[in-house]
Amino acid sequence: DEVGEIRASLLKWYDVNKRDLPWRRINDADATVDDGDRDRKAYAVWVSEIMLQQTRVQTVINYFNRWMEKWPTVHHLAQASIEEVNEMWAGLGYYRRARFLLEGAKMIVEGGRFPRSVNDLRKVRGIGEYTAGAIASIAFNEAVPVVDGNVVRVIARLKTISANPKDTATVKNIWRLAGQVVDVHRPGDFNQALMELGATLCTPLSPSCSSCPVSAQCSALSESKHNPSMLVTDY
Ligand code: ADE
Repeated sequence: DEVGEIRASLLKWYDVNKRDLPWRRINDADATVDDGDRDRKAYAVWVSEIMLQQTRVQTVINYFNRWMEKWPTVHHLAQASIEEVNEMWAGLGYYRRARFLLEGAKMIVEGGRFPRSVNDLRKVRGIGEYTAGAIASIAFNEAVPVVDGNVVRVIARLKTISANPKDTATVKNIWRLAGQVVDVHRPGDFNQALMELGATLCTPLSPSCSSCPVSAQCSALSESKHNPSMLVTDY
């Protein structure tokens, strides 16, 4: 079926084209890793996703590597002072994110183990729906969606939703659709593939449809043959 084809094509594309990023190298969530390894993966995904929220990937790489050298686990971070954390964050902006990481680390350590589900992750300071979905799917294989600006655009095009990404009802609908399409066996890779597709090929102004793994399933592309403006978005 169509959802099956989208999953298979996207994952196959991701396996070949995924960027080699430092947080991706840490213990991929396969069944053989122990709880400690999974927690380290969860911590790395958390730190990287918070850093990526307002900062480009190329800049985040250096900050991430320095952060992980100083505080390799959530237990190390929980012992840090706010001054050390702010110093490490200098240049990234929005210092509230750094403070939330520190406060969240303290909550997690007090709780005794890293929260493993979206519901439990949401209780941690500074972890919203997006970050909870990223950690739960990438580190713990929970089949939940992750929707950022790139994913909004990709799904809006696949389904020809003339979406205003600032419209709450549209975004809610896209979370719902993303939840239906997420791959049950490899949710973390699937979610990262969608984000990566939006960042690299399915770009706002001139998408590279001829290289796109899901062009055959894309209704904006098929409709653009009659109406080229179908592929033009403002976001
Ligand atoms: N942008 C933010 N987080 C990402 C991730 N995990 N993979 C690809 N792009 C991203």
